[in-house]
Amino acid sequence: MSERVVVTGSSGYIGGQTTIRLKELGYHVIGIDVQSCPQRLRSYQDRSFQEDYASRFALDLIADSQPLAIIHCAGTSLVGPSLLDPERYYNNNFVKTKRLMDHVRVRVPKTRMVFSSSAAVYGEPVMTPCHEVDPTLPISPYGESKLMIEMLLQAYQRAYGTDFVALRYFNAAGADPKGRHGQNPAATHLVARVLEASLNQSMFTLNGNDYPTPDGTCIRDYIHVDDLADAHVRAMLPETAPGIYNLGTNSGHSNLEVIDTARKITGIELTVAQGPARVGDPAQLTANSEKFRLATDWKPKWTLEDIIAHAWRWYRDGV
Ligand SMILES: NC(=O)c1ccc[n+]([C@@H]2O[C@H](COP(=O)([O-])OP(=O)(O)OC[C@H]3O[C@@H](n4cnc5c(N)ncnc54)[C@H](O)[C@@H]3O)[C@@H](O)[C@H]2O)c1
Repeated sequence: MSERVVVTGSSGYIGGQTTIRLKELGYHVIGIDVQSCPQRLRSYQDRSFQEDYASRFALDLIADSQPLAIIHCAGTSLVGPSLLDPERYYNNNFVKTKRLMDHVRVRVPKTRMVFSSSAAVYGEPVMTPCHEVDPTLPISPYGESKLMIEMLLQAYQRAYGTDFVALRYFNAAGADPKGRHGQNPAATHLVARVLEASLNQSMFTLNGNDYPTPDGTCIRDYIHVDDLADAHVRAMLPETAPGIYNLGTNSGHSNLEVIDTARKITGIELTVAQGPARVGDPAQLTANSEKFRLATDWKPKWTLEDIIAHAWRWYRDGV
């Protein structure tokens, strides 16, 4: 029988893409999400449950399944709203993950936890590209909740021997290369906003043009969601050393580069208005992902052009 893998947040953007990859590799995929599994993902989840990942039902299901790994993508993940409603972030991210881990350490102590962490743990980075050993000084309850979970996973590993890999994603973008899955409308990152403005023929507001970067606009590290799915599968394998890893491309693209590439791929002359820089937006945020590459041989396969082409197809035809 094929090995079982539980994915929380399996109806979401990254969790859903990961279920596709797992299923293609022959794993028995068990999805848990508070939102129902979209029809298009059904065939990639052997069993899917519309449940809170910390509910009694979900915890018992995980124990009964004795999975090789739990890929924990469920979470609440917007920086701005977390400043306005921190309780929701501490609760849905940290408190519930603690409940999950308290259950895991007793009832499924051998399973590997693969946790969706975030570049937000770095806050305003002291230098870029970020390395895993750099100071972590999150500037939002969202980033704090991710860092608190990383701390818990490390402490539990030391004290109780539970096993984990935490993946600090930078900017996930793109859509399934075969058009089967993508991000829901109204995502907040630049690629999504640029493409949605192109599709709706609306004005796009570019925040800030006097950052200390070559073209004056912010630089971010965009990682294709399919490369992230591949990374999760490698991360869950026992031969990958436990610990914390960055997942990015080791390079970045400026906001203007993203806009120019989108114009080229969509053929639409997006109208751009200049807006003020956003408070707390660092000029550059890129990842050094050498540690994960050395541990797993993982290498991002897709370029910015691919990211935009796949996301464009998704927004235009797929949603
Ligand atoms: N997208 C990014 O660029 C990015 C970057 C860094 C970190 N992350 C992290 O990766 C994870 C996945 O992100 P995403 O972009 O796929 O987000 P998403 O919002 O598309 O997916 C998250 C899913 O989790 C589900 N969920 C939330 N709370 C739940 C609960 N208590 N029980 C069960 N399901 C629950 C939601 O219904 C949703 O389907 C999140 O934890 C996020 O913080 C994402």
